[in-house]
Amino acid sequence: MNYLQPYIVSFKNYLESSLIGNSPSTLYEPADYILSLGGKRIRPILVLLGTHLYEESFEKALDAAFAIEVFHNFTLVHDDIMDQAELRRGQLTVHKKYSTNQAILTGDVMLIHSYEKLLGYSPVLSHMLVSVFSKMAEELCKGQQMDMDFETRENVSIGDYIKMIELKTAVLLGAALKIGALIGNAADSDAEHLYQFGINFGIAFQLQDDVLDVFGASAHVGKTIGGDIIQNKKTYLFLKSLELASDEQKSNLVRLYSGHSNMSETDKVEWVTKTFTSLLVKEYAQQVMEAYRDLAISHLHSCSIDVGKKELLISLVNDFLNRES
Ligand code: IPE
Ligand code: IPE
Ligand code: MG
Ligand code: MG
Ligand code: MG
Repeated sequence: MNYLQPYIVSFKNYLESSLIGNSPSTLYEPADYILSLGGKRIRPILVLLGTHLYEESFEKALDAAFAIEVFHNFTLVHDDIMDQAELRRGQLTVHKKYSTNQAILTGDVMLIHSYEKLLGYSPVLSHMLVSVFSKMAEELCKGQQMDMDFETRENVSIGDYIKMIELKTAVLLGAALKIGALIGNAADSDAEHLYQFGINFGIAFQLQDDVLDVFGASAHVGKTIGGDIIQNKKTYLFLKSLELASDEQKSNLVRLYSGHSNMSETDKVEWVTKTFTSLLVKEYAQQVMEAYRDLAISHLHSCSIDVGKKELLISLVNDFLNRES
């Protein structure tokens, strides 16, 4: 993805010269640790691109890009506690490397730091940015809560799932692009269409995350494959399987996801993965992803940005939805 290099390089340089804090090191070191593990950096790219759609120079969006990436990493630190995950970006998760208490507090300080960065803009602009950011952050908490509630709830529909991933994941991608656009002084209607672009892209992005959690390669994904199955996550793959399964497969799936089975975790992951494969739910997920991708792209056509930039955003969507990590 060479076309994203200017944003990635610029963000990387900024990150290397930024520290959230240093003392006590017990508080800040885990933040440096998780941020230094990298990741795809899609959210800061979206912030910078959002500004670059409207202005020649995107450097003034770097503080906001940093705020958004620090916030994202905070959500991952806390998410990994909630999901009992051991691996992140191919390394130990923060609560496994340090401790759960450390992961909670370091996460908190990262969130606070994100606000502080956004407050560095002019009063009028920072007021707008913080308001977009706060709304998004509360929605993300709602999505995370729904995700956990669904683990033990039986009657989850595909519609409930889509709403949940919109909240836990898509609103952050939408807000990243909108914040960038606001910094670039975009018209309100453009900022709103870009937000909707980000929401629809974000839904497709999370669907792909769920697919990779089952069908990806651990070396690429950097997480434990099958983690969602172990945690009884009501993903699209699971919900679509219930719809397509035979009576016997269905009762096995329900039992395995109810916590009442004594099958080992390894056997459960293997059996569920085989069932997903035989029911072709990955292929169905692909179709749903494409539908959200197309919806995302339709919002671009209502924006007053040049064709080259639209094409860049379309390539970005396609490349990130075809990703393997
Ligand atoms: C992981 O986000 C959490 C989701 C919302 C899917 P990414 O897949 O963007 O994680 P990194 O930042 O690239 O590691
Ligand atoms: C993550 O969803 C959403 C947030 C972190 C807010 P997941 O739980 O699927 O993300 P991964 O797979 O652990 O990265
Ligand atoms: Mg989670
Ligand atoms: Mg998780
Ligand atoms: Mg996941």
